[in-house]
Formats: sequence, structure tokens, C-alpha cells
Amino acid sequence: MSSAEHSVFIRAIGVHAPDRKLTNAELSKMVDTSDEWIKTRSGISERRIAAANENPSDMGAKAAAVALGRAGLTAADIDLLIVATMTPDVPFPSTACLLQAKLGLRRDIPCFDISAACSGFVYALQVATDMMRSGRYRRALVIGAEKLSSVVDWTDRTTCVLFGDGAGAVVLETTPTPHVGILGNLLGADGNNAELLHCVAGGSAAPATPDSISAGKHFLRMNGKEVFRHAVRVMAESCERVLAQCNVTSDQVAWFIPHQANIRILEAVASQLNVGMERFPFNLDRYGNTSAASIPLALEEAWREGKIKHGDLVLIVAFGSGLTWGATLLRWHEPSR
Ligand code: UT7
Repeated sequence: MSSAEHSVFIRAIGVHAPDRKLTNAELSKMVDTSDEWIKTRSGISERRIAAANENPSDMGAKAAAVALGRAGLTAADIDLLIVATMTPDVPFPSTACLLQAKLGLRRDIPCFDISAACSGFVYALQVATDMMRSGRYRRALVIGAEKLSSVVDWTDRTTCVLFGDGAGAVVLETTPTPHVGILGNLLGADGNNAELLHCVAGGSAAPATPDSISAGKHFLRMNGKEVFRHAVRVMAESCERVLAQCNVTSDQVAWFIPHQANIRILEAVASQLNVGMERFPFNLDRYGNTSAASIPLALEEAWREGKIKHGDLVLIVAFGSGLTWGATLLRWHEPSR
């Protein structure tokens, strides 16, 4: 950061999760699975499922309203909106534009989506931060909002037990004070492994046809074992690289907030970093994998429960379809309650 640049910090955070809980017991009546298998292999007990008329823009707008309310700000105070989602309301326009209208944000601000699947929130955070450092944008809303239940094949037990719906939003703000908020970040991608977690139809390469629909080509498909392997390696490496970039050791980090995909992935990353699981707060047991919403959902819970305190170093790290990954180190600046 040059001396002319501003710091960017999280001024407030808000979340929204749908009311409907889908338990492992219910899932075991839908596909050949069991509470025991799901808990042992993933750590998940239940997940939230959005109502038919509850879209990512609706959940994102509710999360953003909570964050704005906590910050004591109104829609007019926001200069930039970025939405991370792999389940946009519609192919176009962007979910960000739909959200802008729902929130009543100003018309002279950029509003756009970022497509980086489960790494979307970390990508959006970095893009927003880089746009704000010059001082051109003072306050941004960064939102992760997902309705995975709409792209999951509810007859495929290897994926349908893992995912859930929800949204999280942060209000970012600039300050001339150096070394607060976002200290360092990195992003990466490996498109050669795109097929490990993808959806083959519904885009311009394969528009919807009766055949593509009956063949289930609009659903998410995943090679779970391979994704698991890459996730552990890349998340641990990303943590180490962002720590080195900021000249910080893992001992100095108070909290690690990883993308909430599988408790065994979190345990393996913690073990590779030589960090105890007590510094890895998680909520995937109650929400499953909510993709771009998972980090803000976990971050908000850890903050609301009083774990994360002013001045703490917090490392967030994500991994997802693309493949994509990213990590951000921040010094927590107590957000507005
Ligand atoms: O957000 C990033 C994206 N996603 C992830 O990070 C997910 C990464 N991968 C994973 O979390 C894990 O690989 C899974 C949870 C998906 C699977 O765990 P695993 O230990 O890798 O299991 P597996 O795929 O090797 O399957 C073991 C067995 C198989 O049976 P056989 O071949 O051993 O007879 C599966 O057919 O478990 C079977 N199986 C199930 N059994 C009961 C797979 N899914 C289920 C299920 N219930 N839901």
C-alpha cells in the first residue's frame, strides 16, 4: 500500500438465511444416505433451503439491509456494489443490478457480479478493495448470495447432501489510517480442472433443450474426491502465501475463516498450517456449503458470538469451481452493531 492509498475495512456485516431447515434425516428419505454418513464425511447436520420465490437478490438484499442498518447508513451512502454468486437470479441482467433496484442504491454507481463460485466472496472483496484504495469509491457493498438448491440434483446423493442457500453482506469503507482492515490478499485459478466441479448446460454453449433437461445437464456435478484433494492443498498454500506477503506468522492470526465446504477439509488445512481447530470457527454443520455466502455467514457468526475482537488478525480463505481460490488477511476493526 503506498502512502497515497487508503485502507479499506469492514464497517458492518449482515447475513440472511432462509427459514426452512432441511435435516439429514429428511434427506435420508429422499436419497440412499444416512445422518451418520453425511455427518462423518462432511460434518453437515442440516442446511437452509430458500422458498421458490426467494432468490439470491432477495436474500442478498436482506443481508445488505442488516449490514446497512448496523452501520447506521442508508442506500444513498453506497458508491459501489459487487455481488458474488454462481446461482444468479437470471442469466442476465446481473444479480447486482436486481439488488441495486431492491435496495434503492444510487444510479451513478457501478453494480456488477463476479463469477468465481465458492471463492466469489474473496474475489469480490479484493476487487472492491482495489477499486477503493485510490479513494475513488468511499463505501462499497460486497455481497455473497446463493441458491444452490436450484442447481443441485436432488436424486444425486453424492452432491445434494452438501449444499445450502443463504447470503452475507459487508459494507466496506475507506480510511486514511494505515494498516487497518484488509492488509493483503491473493487470488488464483486453474481452468484446466474446470470439469471437477461444473454445470455443462444452460449457457450459450448448450442452451436448454428438452433433452438437456431430461439428461439432468443443468445440475451441478462434482468429482468430490479430487475437489477435496485440491481444496486442502490450495487453501493451505494460499494461507501460507498471504501470511508471507504480509510478513505475519500463523501464530499471530487469531481466527481462520475458511470457506465452509467440509469439516474434514478444514481439519486438514488446520493440520497443514499447524493450527488448532479452536481457531477455525465453523457453521457448516447448520448451513452446509453455501458457496459465495459461506465466508460472510461464518464471519458474521464468529463476530456476533464475540469471538473476533477489535485488532484481531483474521485470515479468510476460499476454494471453489473454476478451479478458483483466494485468501485475504485483515486486521479486524470492530464493525458497527
Ligand atoms: O465448495 C467446494 C466444493 N466442494 C467440496 O469442497 C467438496 C469436496 N469433497 C468432499 O467434501 C467429499 O469428497 C465428499 C463429502 C463429497 C465425499 O466424501 P468421500 O470421503 O470423498 O467419499 P467418496 O466420494 O469416496 O464416497 C465413499 C462412498 C462411495 O461408495 P463406495 O464406492 O465406496 O461403495 C459413495 O458412493 O460413499 C458413497 N456415498 C454415499 N453414501 C451415503 C457418496 N455419497 C453418499 C451419501 N450417502 N450421500
